[in-house]
Amino acid sequence: MAQYKYPTLAVHAGQHPDPLTGAVNVPVYLSSTFELTGVGTDRGWDYSRAGNPTRDRLETALAALEGGVSGHAFTSGMAAIRGLVAMLRCGDHLLCSADVYAGTVRFFDEIVVRSGIEIEYVDTSDLAAVEAAIKPNTKLIHLETPSNPLMVLADIGAIAKIAHAHGAEVSVDNTFLSPVLQSPIALGADIVMHSTTKYLNGHSDGLGGALITSTQEQKERFILVQKAEGAVMSPFECFLVLRGIKTLPLRVQKHEENGRAVAEFLSTHPKVRKLAYPGLKCHPQYELACRQQKGFGSMMSFELKSRDECARFLKALKIFLNAESLGGVESLASHSATTTHGSVSEEVRRRMGINDGRIRLSIGIEDKEDLIADLDQALAAV
Ligand SMILES: Cc1ncc(COP(=O)(O)O)c(C=O)c1O
Repeated sequence: MAQYKYPTLAVHAGQHPDPLTGAVNVPVYLSSTFELTGVGTDRGWDYSRAGNPTRDRLETALAALEGGVSGHAFTSGMAAIRGLVAMLRCGDHLLCSADVYAGTVRFFDEIVVRSGIEIEYVDTSDLAAVEAAIKPNTKLIHLETPSNPLMVLADIGAIAKIAHAHGAEVSVDNTFLSPVLQSPIALGADIVMHSTTKYLNGHSDGLGGALITSTQEQKERFILVQKAEGAVMSPFECFLVLRGIKTLPLRVQKHEENGRAVAEFLSTHPKVRKLAYPGLKCHPQYELACRQQKGFGSMMSFELKSRDECARFLKALKIFLNAESLGGVESLASHSATTTHGSVSEEVRRRMGINDGRIRLSIGIEDKEDLIADLDQALAAV
């Protein structure tokens, strides 16, 4: 399918009619086990933890969308990150972007370190800092670009070159842009990670995660992780993500059109400070965004003066919902310090540059003028 363009891939990769019935939608195979054809022989599946026909279709679609060798679907984005680091050993060194989803920091700092894996955070917008932080035992550099919620970018191609020269792999959390707007493997990354809970599902009705590989060795590694650890996406969740993927290019186009319009509106509003959106020419990495991304996405964040101002703003919103998460059709606004970054200490938040006045927006696919009017009236209430 590689010859096809994105909207065609989204509708057809992994989504061919069911060979048994001709059903145009991928059936949900709710079966934990599969009848074997003999001793040591089967029809391709034996037990759903190891493989399920619905999951196979989603994994095929994910690999096609990211231009990878294989896709691996997990129960959540966090389970996918668990899969990513599952094969690291005691004494290995893991470098991570300094400004990442706080759940990733919580997992690394509270769970992964217990296995004797050394974890270090580095400003991945600074190539010299990345190179300086690499050690002989560095096995993985995990990037989130754009980062959550400050929209800091990392130069994937340049970091991949540095990492490969030192024998390390690069993984990219591509959740914020989706495969439509950024192709980390084509840029040189080794592994792509997604919280499918966001744009890939797109309707805020399921949790899931994915890893997409670029080599056969990684494929085998993650097949083992899925089978051995068992945190695999359920067939029904796989169906929801497959359904979401069909409209992903269309949705992302609208998300982005709205995102640009909202960012332009906010950029001139007197109450909005430190607006972070890579599609604005004043963003310090605008040039990198133009070079590395196929669009700017629909995530952004800004500061009001205080937590109290944020509370008044969030309460006054009528269309935007005051809720965590992102990438669904509905627009969401959230107070970063108490939602996505509520799980890390104030000290860590300060280190990340997230203060109590920061609001993150996930722009949905509603009418952009309605969204701007809603933000305008809520800012007036501040
Ligand atoms: C960038 C990013 N990565 C990973 C995750 C974790 O995904 P999940 O909530 O599906 O476990 C999130 C969740 O918000 C996220 O925003």
